[in-house]
Amino acid sequence: MNAPANALEIRDLCVSYGPIHALRGVSIDVPDKQITALLGANGAGKTSLLRTISGLIQPKSGSIKVYGEEIAGREAHVIVGKGISQSPEGRQVFPNLSVRENLQLGAYTRSDKAGIAQDMERVLTIWPRLRERLKQMSGTLSGGEQQMLAMARAMMARPRVLLLDEPSLGLAPVIVAGIFETIKEIHREGTTVLLVEQNAHLALRIASIGYVLETGTIQKCAPAAELLDDDAIRAAYLGG
Ligand SMILES: Nc1ncnc2c1ncn2[C@@H]1O[C@H](COP(=O)(O)OP(=O)(O)OP(=O)(O)O)[C@@H](O)[C@H]1O
Ligand SMILES: [Mg+2]
Repeated sequence: MNAPANALEIRDLCVSYGPIHALRGVSIDVPDKQITALLGANGAGKTSLLRTISGLIQPKSGSIKVYGEEIAGREAHVIVGKGISQSPEGRQVFPNLSVRENLQLGAYTRSDKAGIAQDMERVLTIWPRLRERLKQMSGTLSGGEQQMLAMARAMMARPRVLLLDEPSLGLAPVIVAGIFETIKEIHREGTTVLLVEQNAHLALRIASIGYVLETGTIQKCAPAAELLDDDAIRAAYLGG
């Protein structure tokens, strides 16, 4: 049997925080082994969508399929076990744990010691700065280093699908360029990526497809190259 063409299929997803309707019937497909960009203004619901996929928020209704299997409403550790791993907005590393301990926590659902050691080596090869700082308390890392650690920690779950929430937020252009190179490399090695980014230009340049979320509703879905050329998208997200 062939693997499903979509890593994720999300249908009619609704999420509320009390009276606030953050997602109002969102449907998206995330094609396997591609980079999908999710754009949207502040408060559009991007983080809510990623956190719901990860099982950190329970949806009110709707379906989330991972390689054909329904996961909506399952617990977060079960969803990590299905191959979904998230690098959260604002990095959220554990500040009082060392870099090594943060990375080990990324593998918390795994028991294959040899595979974990292999992945530790892999992420330290991708991010040599983290290797130099293995014993350093994570709270004392620079912002860019904390972002690298958040992504590396997510990769320690050996995900099939990596969810990235604003990996470039607040970082200097040279660091951002490095992060986008790394995302491309992770993708080249076969990981599916769902990328939430304020930097729409960079995101659409590495993505194959893009979705635009506005106040909890998908407003547009198109090949990334088309969105880069779209006048309305240019005006709203690409600085004209
Ligand atoms: N824990 C919460 N309790 C109440 N409302 C929330 C909560 N988290 C998010 N919201 C609301 O849900 C809506 C969507 O928020 P969300 O964080 O998903 O947006 P976003 O697209 O990620 O925005 P940003 O670009 O600013 O990160 C917003 O109106 C926000 O105020
Ligand atoms: Mg957000």
